[in-house]
Amino acid sequence: MSNTTATITLHGNSTELPVRKGTIGPDVVEIGPLYKNTNSFTYDPGFTSTASCESKITYIDGDEGVLLHRGYPIEQLAEQGDFLDTCYLLLYGELPTKTQKADFDYRVTRHTMVHEQMAKFFTGFRRDAHPMAIMVGCVGAMSAFYHDSTDITDPHQRMVASIRLLAKMPTLAAMAYKYHVGQPFVYPKNDLDLASNFLRMCFAVPCEEYKVNPVLARAMDRIFILHADHEQNASTSTVRLAGSSGANPFACIAAGIACLWGPAHGGANEAALNMLAEIGSVDRIPEYVAKAKDKNDPFRLMGFGHRVYKNYDPRARIMQKTTHEVLGELGIKDDPLLDVAMELENIALTDEYFIEKKLYPNIDFYSGITLKALGFPTEMFTVLFAVARTIGWVAQWKEMVEDPAQKIGRPRQLYTGHAQRDFVPLAKRK
Ligand code: CMC
Repeated sequence: MSNTTATITLHGNSTELPVRKGTIGPDVVEIGPLYKNTNSFTYDPGFTSTASCESKITYIDGDEGVLLHRGYPIEQLAEQGDFLDTCYLLLYGELPTKTQKADFDYRVTRHTMVHEQMAKFFTGFRRDAHPMAIMVGCVGAMSAFYHDSTDITDPHQRMVASIRLLAKMPTLAAMAYKYHVGQPFVYPKNDLDLASNFLRMCFAVPCEEYKVNPVLARAMDRIFILHADHEQNASTSTVRLAGSSGANPFACIAAGIACLWGPAHGGANEAALNMLAEIGSVDRIPEYVAKAKDKNDPFRLMGFGHRVYKNYDPRARIMQKTTHEVLGELGIKDDPLLDVAMELENIALTDEYFIEKKLYPNIDFYSGITLKALGFPTEMFTVLFAVARTIGWVAQWKEMVEDPAQKIGRPRQLYTGHAQRDFVPLAKRK
């Protein structure tokens, strides 16, 4: 806590508000006493200047393009560790020792199967249902299957629920995919690592032996690491808000999945790939760039821009490298989508409009191309984001529930509707 204060004068009344310092990053003005002292609220739609909580998990410097989890740069986590290393770090605050890592991997692996009755639950959906619709339903429905880990006041149950969510999300996502394509579900195989297991559950069929390609498994693992957490983004804030009422963790994560689905958030990777396909060839790019710059046209270049990053998204750099590794391994040289993507990137990085507005390619720009090369249909892209982000949601939810200062999230509003007026009986209305 610093001794600095901010003074606000309203209607002739001055009030002093404490200013708090984080380890790094901008200070925050504590506006809690404002309403009591001045009878006024603050107004910040989109929360562009509002810190909604205190957190020790993830730090982003959007101007410098920095992303740290518990202090570790995302580049080092993605290059030197595996996804479960990052999961442990997010959940427990430190990198695991060798023994802790072995124990954690074992615990997660032992929870990968879902209740057998959940398979029946899937058949209630239409085959052409969007897999995100299935995920919202099935993850919410986990509350109906795992009653012994819904008491949020019990630290043991909180941890069991966290591990269950982390371990079962890949299985549920693979089941959503299998249901979508009309193939039988594939059970998890416990001697495989998380990413290899996931690829196998998605792409193995009973009539053939499935051999995991280690380059593709490493790429999948890296995609999971890069999407694991991103501080107080829309879906994480949704999870925290849902959890602030004391709702069980499965219901809260289902709320996060619903929020992630939108094209301005997790749905952008699907939208970016659809956009590249719509552009189709390099010669049509100028037309689309012109549309994106036209103030009267709502079209936006999907996969460009970010609320926080006003510099190159550090995850996008790693993702770009991973994209090339995957395409190289699969021998994909002349992918028209990739040609469009690379040219679009060049144009956007040199065009005055994009430079002035600091619109850089974000992670979704590259992840879509990689996931397509891995064999996933576009409808699955946001589901994969949800699989990866589950650990971030769970870690942030746990941090919130364990914070002694936690209270229900209840924003206020600027009311611009009618002032009080009298009811007019129907007989007297026109
Ligand atoms: N293409 C063209 N113009 C854009 C774009 C874009 N992708 N993004 C922002 N702008 C313009 C926008 O029109 C506005 O111009 P002006 O100042 O003249 O009105 C200016 O840049 C600022 O945009 P904003 O909408 O006020 O910025 P925001 O912080 O509210 O929005 C965003 C951030 C990510 C929603 C937005 O950049 C966008 O819609 N991008 C495309 C969708 C996308 O790729 N989303 C993935 C985000 S990263 C993954 C995640 O976190 O989930």
